[in-house]
Amino acid sequence: MTDSPPITRTVGELRRHIAGWRAAGHTVALVPTMGALHEGHLSLIDLACRKAARTVVSIFVNPAQFGENEDLDTYPRDEPRDLALIAAHKGDLVFAPDVAEMYPVDFATSVDVAALARSLCGASRPGHFSGVATVVTKLLNQVRADLAVFGEKDFQQLLVIRRLARDLDIETEILGAPIVREKDGLALSSRNRYLDKRERGLAPQIYKTIVTVAEQIRGGSSIGQASGWGARVLSQSGFKVEYLEVRNATTLDALKGRLAPGTPARVFAAARLGRTRLIDNVDVFAS
Ligand code: PAJ
Repeated sequence: MTDSPPITRTVGELRRHIAGWRAAGHTVALVPTMGALHEGHLSLIDLACRKAARTVVSIFVNPAQFGENEDLDTYPRDEPRDLALIAAHKGDLVFAPDVAEMYPVDFATSVDVAALARSLCGASRPGHFSGVATVVTKLLNQVRADLAVFGEKDFQQLLVIRRLARDLDIETEILGAPIVREKDGLALSSRNRYLDKRERGLAPQIYKTIVTVAEQIRGGSSIGQASGWGARVLSQSGFKVEYLEVRNATTLDALKGRLAPGTPARVFAAARLGRTRLIDNVDVFAS
């Protein structure tokens, strides 16, 4: 057993710890999470540990990014298990504040990355990205890391965070990390545990479908044809499709017609299976 890393619950303690590292000349990485850690999160911690001398992992289930009828209350929480996993992956410090530490009663500021936060998940989850952008801005300012790592699983979130860091002159480098998947292709997610057995059997279909949509586009199908086909296949398999769209991989601008080879484009999908909302995405020309 590896010893658990220290846990800090306040911004003051966190900063004192990091100041000690800085005084010793160490570089610092940040991996923000909402806990319920799985191999996807752990891959981000591994990447952070390779890139910086010291890694802070934050665990905070951020109320501001959950909508009224979403799963804030039932979101899985298991701090002892998370700490053991972080220790096994050589994280150096855990920052696990409570809600009052992050949001004092008169908290009044929010960060809104307008252009990138309105489409895709932003359209189906109003306010979600403003909640994410606000908490991530706080975490970046609290830690002032050299780099912070985010997964491509939440590709739109990664773009929102890159843009806020650039727009607000936050110096932390934002690194993206590839999606970790189950053997059958399902992207790992803390929410996969909500799936019952039948739904778990169907769930990999979302990945298979967007990979096929990407193949069709590479083969010369128009975006409209391919994404229409993909949405139909998922609906017929029992998913409630929120969106299946092909968009520019940097600006998220909508794309139309046939794509020239090498265009930076991704297929994005969000769909519900019962009460579970699943999202996934693939690169059109590199999947
Ligand atoms: P959470 O869903 O806990 O995810 C934390 C980080 O892990 C995110 O950067 C996410 O993209 C990444 N991640 C999740 N599943 C992954 C997978 N299968 N492969 C690779 N990376 C994966 O995303 C959040 O928390 C929150 O919005 C947060 C950024 C912490 C702000 O509250």
